[in-house]
Amino acid sequence: MRVVICGAAGQLGTDLVQVFEAEGEEVMGFDLDLDITDHALVMEKIPSLNPDLLINSAADLDADQAERDPEPSLKTNFTGTQNLVLACLDAGCPMAFISSDYVFDGMKGAAYNELDEPNPQSVYGKAKLASERYMASSLPRWYVFRTQWLFGKAGKRNFVKSILRNVKEKGSLRVVTDEVGTPTCTEDLAKIVYRVCTSDWYGLYHATNEGVCSRFEFAQQIVDIAGFEDVPVEPIVYADLDLPCPRPPYSPLDNMNLRLQGFPPARNYMEPLREYIEWLLENDGL
Ligand SMILES: NC(=O)c1ccc[n+]([C@@H]2O[C@H](COP(=O)([O-])OP(=O)(O)OC[C@H]3O[C@@H](n4cnc5c(N)ncnc54)[C@H](OP(=O)(O)O)[C@@H]3O)[C@@H](O)[C@H]2O)c1
Repeated sequence: MRVVICGAAGQLGTDLVQVFEAEGEEVMGFDLDLDITDHALVMEKIPSLNPDLLINSAADLDADQAERDPEPSLKTNFTGTQNLVLACLDAGCPMAFISSDYVFDGMKGAAYNELDEPNPQSVYGKAKLASERYMASSLPRWYVFRTQWLFGKAGKRNFVKSILRNVKEKGSLRVVTDEVGTPTCTEDLAKIVYRVCTSDWYGLYHATNEGVCSRFEFAQQIVDIAGFEDVPVEPIVYADLDLPCPRPPYSPLDNMNLRLQGFPPARNYMEPLREYIEWLLENDGL
């Protein structure tokens, strides 16, 4: 299978490239060298590659900046995805899109499955939902993978790295208790994307590791695993941080569709988290 991966230098994109290549697929990875917001470039380039599948993992993840100045964020997260949809239409290939728990308001009080009605509260979440819907209404064959709280080896920024950096630089932490979800390992997610995209079972999938925690609990687990259990972690709430983007307060995702289709359950996030922190301490200079 010839697979185009956009956002290939990102934290998930890097693992997507590795997993698809390890399975013997022919991968063409692009990042800022194929700017997805450039309509003419995308329309010229993608069909000429004759792909059997395109995966869009490119995004602008700065949800706070998106509230301050929506258009640059919308341009990447919505217009960029639209461009790729149009190119896939031309190329006659299916497309996979990586979406987010931010499509939900986080007020349900239980994990969200694929039948739950989205209600995004942020510019970032609205762009994700609009992109999902544009793709689903334009292409006959598509996959959406909604995920959350990613951590991976190629990540320049993620929660695990931020916590460990703060521990080293400040020696203490303040972390919110009122955001609950599921940390997800990008290598595990890339394997799920591979399995589903080679099944031809098109549709909407929630795709995370198993287990649920608050950001506060997650930070405590990170410092414990890294051997900094003496570092004080102060519980705070989001209102203390005065950030412009409203986070969904409780948005674990139930991987219901993966389960119903008979895909194997994901690991509990604690297992890849331990492996990841060991790797970071050995390889990342943290
Ligand atoms: N990280 C999370 O916790 C999380 C949670 C839920 C969903 N997601 C979704 O999962 C996907 C992958 O996230 P990630 O953590 O791997 O993000 P990431 O590491 O930031 O990767 C995204 C990549 O896309 C590139 N990019 C940005 N604008 C582009 C453009 N106009 N054209 C081409 N490439 C562009 C980025 O380059 P630069 O870094 O140089 O800008 C980066 O290499 C995204 O769709 C994201 O919305 C992520």
